[in-house]
Amino acid sequence: MSKTELYESIMPQIEALISNEADDIANMANVAALLHITFGFWWTGFYIVRGTTLVLGPFQGPVACTRIAFGRGVCGTAWQREQIVVVPDVHQFPGHIACSAESQSEIVVPLMRHGEVCAVLDIDSRELNTFDNTDKHYLQKVAQMLAK
Ligand code: SME
Repeated sequence: MSKTELYESIMPQIEALISNEADDIANMANVAALLHITFGFWWTGFYIVRGTTLVLGPFQGPVACTRIAFGRGVCGTAWQREQIVVVPDVHQFPGHIACSAESQSEIVVPLMRHGEVCAVLDIDSRELNTFDNTDKHYLQKVAQMLAK
């Protein structure tokens, strides 16, 4: 299956999983699991805004750093810019926080609620250049579903 077909196949599942559950942690946990197992990413999870810091939320993959400051790393940059950040090669991203030496490329998608970032979805790949406009398109939709 192509990447688009894979996303198309899991979007209804995500909708079904989260539409009747109001708890953010439960929904983030299931979404992280579903994305992780569908695409075989290296690390798939959430960082949640707590004041001036992102704190580790539900995730799948190896252990990760627990706190990331505003504007720091790829996650803190996506929070600051309020925009998706795609990093084709993490070694070329100034300030990239290496939670795992295996990570080669990364995408971070902010979850916007009431006009503010409330969390970010962070996905790491063990290969370079994993994330493209297809991932941006669908992960943006996933973020909107979760933040609504
Ligand atoms: N690489 C991220 C840190 C989080 S880990 O990838 C799970 C960053 O630079 O913000």
